[in-house]
Amino acid sequence: MRLNKKLVIGNWKMNGNADLIAAYRASFFPFCDQLAAIDVVLSPPFTLLQSMAEELEQLPIMLGAQNVSEYEHGAHTGEISAAMLASMATKMVIIGHSERRAERGESDRIIAAKVTQATQAGITPVLCVGETAAEKAAGRSEEVVWAQINTVLQEAGMNAFTQIVIAYEPVWAIGSGATASLEDITHMAEIINTRLSALDVKLPLLYGGSVKAKNAADIVSIPAVDGLLVGGASLDPVEFLALCRNSLP
Ligand code: PGA
Repeated sequence: MRLNKKLVIGNWKMNGNADLIAAYRASFFPFCDQLAAIDVVLSPPFTLLQSMAEELEQLPIMLGAQNVSEYEHGAHTGEISAAMLASMATKMVIIGHSERRAERGESDRIIAAKVTQATQAGITPVLCVGETAAEKAAGRSEEVVWAQINTVLQEAGMNAFTQIVIAYEPVWAIGSGATASLEDITHMAEIINTRLSALDVKLPLLYGGSVKAKNAADIVSIPAVDGLLVGGASLDPVEFLALCRNSLP
């Protein structure tokens, strides 16, 4: 996977309804022509994918999903397959978000199976990785993050692996207002890039964790950072528009 532009993904998590789409129609969509120098993805919950797909049909914004089943099809009640997402024009899917790792017990192996499913359906996986506060305090950030990445490589194989986007999201920075420092983000991005280049691989690398309109420009201008994964700030179209504008080159 290669990106030509910086990429900004809005993840609504388990939030939003028709009113939030209407707010985007009023305060974001009319301005998205100004954002042609970046790529923008909106990831609403599954229940809004269809209406969001219709909204985005004529707009230069891509549709994303927040999760996908590790199975291809069949008797898996409540699951949504990669083929189902692809049939709704979904271009990217967030996989392995720390909230799913923690709340749903998603292991690196399950996450790798989801990466396989997504790539087989032609959807770009956004693989989320990141250390907890305790792992950071124990000096284990690099080891934890690399293990999360490497298991996907081992389980999903090089072909699927080279199609992913990586999102480095320190767990302690998500939704906390405690953004990682520019030095820490740069350091981790360089570690990941060095390890990947030893495998002759280059992958886009996003940062996520309390990104707001006011800190987006500094983070996205780190040379090793290819974009942003945004949670809370994407629930307000005015704030998200400002964030996207501040991410322009
Ligand atoms: P946040 O969430 O921007 O609200 O910290 C980021 C994420 O979970 O991807």
